[in-house]
Amino acid sequence: MTERRWPGALAHRGFRQLSLALVLSSFGDWLGFLATTALASQLVDGFDAKSFAIGGVLVFRLLPAVVLAPLVGVVADRVDRRLVMVVSDVLRFGLFLSIPLVDTVGWLIAATALCEVLSLLWIPAKESAVPHLAGEQLQSANQISLFATYGTAPVAALVFGVLGTLSVRTGHPATHIALYIDAATFLFAAVQVFRIHDIPSRAVASGHLEQSPSVVESVREGLRFARSSDLVRGVLVAMMGAMGATGVVVGNGKLFTETVLDGGEGAFALLFGAVFVGIALGVALGPRALVGTSRRRSLGPAIFAAGGCLVFMSVVPVLALVTIATGLLGGFAGLAYVTGLTLLGSEVDDTVRGRTFGLVNSLMRISLLAAVAAGAAVAHAVGIHRMGRVDVNGVSVTLLLGGLLALVVGVLSYRILNDRPGVPLHRDLAALVRRVPAPGPAYPGLFVVFEGGEGAGKSTQVKRLAAVLSERGVEVVVTREPGATPVGVRIRQLLLDPATSLSPRAEAMLYAADRAQHVATVVRPALGRGAVVISDRYVDSSLAYQGAGRALPSEEVAQLSRWATEGLVPDVTLLLDIDPAIGLARATGSPDRIEQESLTFHHAVRQGFLDLAAADPDRYLVVSASLPPDAVHEAVVARVLPLAPSPSLVSA
Ligand code: TYD
Repeated sequence: MTERRWPGALAHRGFRQLSLALVLSSFGDWLGFLATTALASQLVDGFDAKSFAIGGVLVFRLLPAVVLAPLVGVVADRVDRRLVMVVSDVLRFGLFLSIPLVDTVGWLIAATALCEVLSLLWIPAKESAVPHLAGEQLQSANQISLFATYGTAPVAALVFGVLGTLSVRTGHPATHIALYIDAATFLFAAVQVFRIHDIPSRAVASGHLEQSPSVVESVREGLRFARSSDLVRGVLVAMMGAMGATGVVVGNGKLFTETVLDGGEGAFALLFGAVFVGIALGVALGPRALVGTSRRRSLGPAIFAAGGCLVFMSVVPVLALVTIATGLLGGFAGLAYVTGLTLLGSEVDDTVRGRTFGLVNSLMRISLLAAVAAGAAVAHAVGIHRMGRVDVNGVSVTLLLGGLLALVVGVLSYRILNDRPGVPLHRDLAALVRRVPAPGPAYPGLFVVFEGGEGAGKSTQVKRLAAVLSERGVEVVVTREPGATPVGVRIRQLLLDPATSLSPRAEAMLYAADRAQHVATVVRPALGRGAVVISDRYVDSSLAYQGAGRALPSEEVAQLSRWATEGLVPDVTLLLDIDPAIGLARATGSPDRIEQESLTFHHAVRQGFLDLAAADPDRYLVVSASLPPDAVHEAVVARVLPLAPSPSLVSA
């Protein structure tokens, strides 16, 4: 159900409804945060008691995330997600309403903790519903969600400020009015979510039908998945790093402007504004700037750059430069955030998505608050003093440490997530700056490639996989190289005719020409429609046959194919590995020009494929083609099905 006049993911009605709910409850969350901390300090007297009460509210906001991190997502994966959201909103309505009515510190802290538990339940349920509601517009959906979540913070601050001024005139405490408004936003959000009808009631299992495991087993499975998946580990490391760096700035921002920059409220407001504008721009424009590069690969460098900004701020205390660095810091953090969420949403299977988001969300909160606390403690411990000729300021030292930490985290997550190890990072960066190769749009479909030597049985496996996917109601396009297009058919004749004599470079260029036509007229259009494209051979055949086999420099062959395909890389490559002696013996009919090559040539080709697979284990599945065809098929299906668009998306 989509409408043209709404941009991006908002074209989906269900997502629009969810976004409104999110805007309302996020606004409520922020307003509640401001009101509860302010109320905590109003309800008691004396500096120590005040800081104790405020600390209590903060600690009890943190505690549920620590204790419940692995548990909360289970609810989203096992219980009706709409129900989880509605119930949690209604309960928060009641709790926020009760705080000003009861009006004691004890209940304030207890209610805050309960509300936090409910937010922890609400968020993964929402995150795992988003891919169903937004369909192929996942990235746009994440951008909108982030705007709703963080864009409402300054609005809430403004509203709270206005309530403060009004309360002086009317005599009603601003905190109470804020909490009533807060309660109302949750009630509205509950109604709003209740009206959304296209959230599937349970996680959609993408493989075989699953037996419901016990809760404990479910938690274990979630943790095991997070540990075993490079993607989740890499994203977790990155997001915790981004939150840690942000936390250091948030915790020290006020002191930094006062003691290091010698600025007042104005300077603080300037930095606060710069961070928000930076985050907004990073979220909105960053993904577009990155089109054509690998999302996995850009996450680490984004965090690294954010760390660089922090280090810069700590050593160059000049307000104008610090403001620019703060804006850039926000931009990189925003980019990292939206990229990480999109990676998880698009690559994690629906059955564990709730748990994954639950874990990520809780750990992010923990690292944010831990960084705020640790940052303040370090700054306090170091204090301000002179060492020789240098003034040492604890706040600068903390920013420096936070920055260095982010640099390390950036490198770590880059190492874990790098999906193009053969391509040096500076090449990607240079291509980004020059905007070449011309970036193709991100696509909603799935690109699956079978590779392997002669007689590996690819065509049988291609057909069987296609049958399984079609049965699930997904559009499948089966294709091959060389020769899937009218022009390709003629190129194929040239290439395989034993009577043709071709130089290795001419051969490489003909395969590339066939590929360029294939990608432009068959593969990209199908991926753009959301189809699963299964291709019998692709770029890696050129790397193995022309690179390893004909001994052309493999980086040059790769470059030729990158240019021909405008950088289109398969989502998954299935390598059917076979001893050439056995494979060639399986071949029937008269051997073509390539099959006629020596056994040494075919051994080099096999090794070429295996090296490519070893360099990129995330993208490859290597299956021994000497296994029975059923066993090969099973392995292939297990690898591909979790990535396939779920049928609910296709029919949406
Ligand atoms: P084909 O009859 O399609 O072989 P197969 O059934 O083994 O896939 O012929 C394609 C031949 O072209 C095959 O021997 C591999 C070779 N080839 C290359 O050398 N470079 C390439 O880039 C591609 C796509 C194929």
